[in-house]
Amino acid sequence: MKAKRWIATVVIAFFIMLAAVLHRAGNASEVMEAGRYIALTFDDGPSSLTTPELLDGLKERGARATFFVLGMEAEKEPELLRRIQAEGHQVAQHTYSHVKLNEISDAALTEELTKTNEILLDILGEGDYWLRPPYGLIREAQCALVNVPLITWSVDSEDWKLREKEAVSRRVLEEAKSGDIILMHDIHPTTVHAALTIVDELQAQGYTFLTVQELMCIYGVDAGAGELYRAPLLPGQW
Ligand code: NI
Repeated sequence: MKAKRWIATVVIAFFIMLAAVLHRAGNASEVMEAGRYIALTFDDGPSSLTTPELLDGLKERGARATFFVLGMEAEKEPELLRRIQAEGHQVAQHTYSHVKLNEISDAALTEELTKTNEILLDILGEGDYWLRPPYGLIREAQCALVNVPLITWSVDSEDWKLREKEAVSRRVLEEAKSGDIILMHDIHPTTVHAALTIVDELQAQGYTFLTVQELMCIYGVDAGAGELYRAPLLPGQW
């Protein structure tokens, strides 16, 4: 009996260890092989003229995205902001007044970010509101002043310049691959239509649309405060 119990204990211990090893092996590379993941990001909003149609389309398609909102727009649209969050998207910030952070003082930077963070806290409650510096511009030393992860992008849709649905969607579809963070602006009607075309095309290719936070997580990247990321597997740019 004792020997049997001992063998049973050893067998159980072996399976527990095996489970632990397999769990650890189930890391980012395996997750990545299992699927294709991408993050759409929308800057400069929210806008009552264009963002609701985008939200309708994303909801219909089961796609999540990230909205880097301006403080000065967010404070005008509390309901819309709450809707973005309620529908599973990530709300993040893009400064209060779309200023070039690399051209302002540390005190001015802190004020831009704090003011926006307070607006988001007021409307949405507690949360970590990540930052995308306008134009992707920030000095390396300034990152230490930022207490959330900083996110730029790996694919630029150039939607603000192209302003044409087909041209924007074609440009993104030609470049997009798993792990990319796509830069767009939900203040242009053409962008809304292009974004939904991109979702349709890439979902047909097996892509899942995640928030930036989810994308980082699935790639096993523990996004750190004050660290700048272009995409989960790309280092920051200066
Ligand atoms: Ni912007």
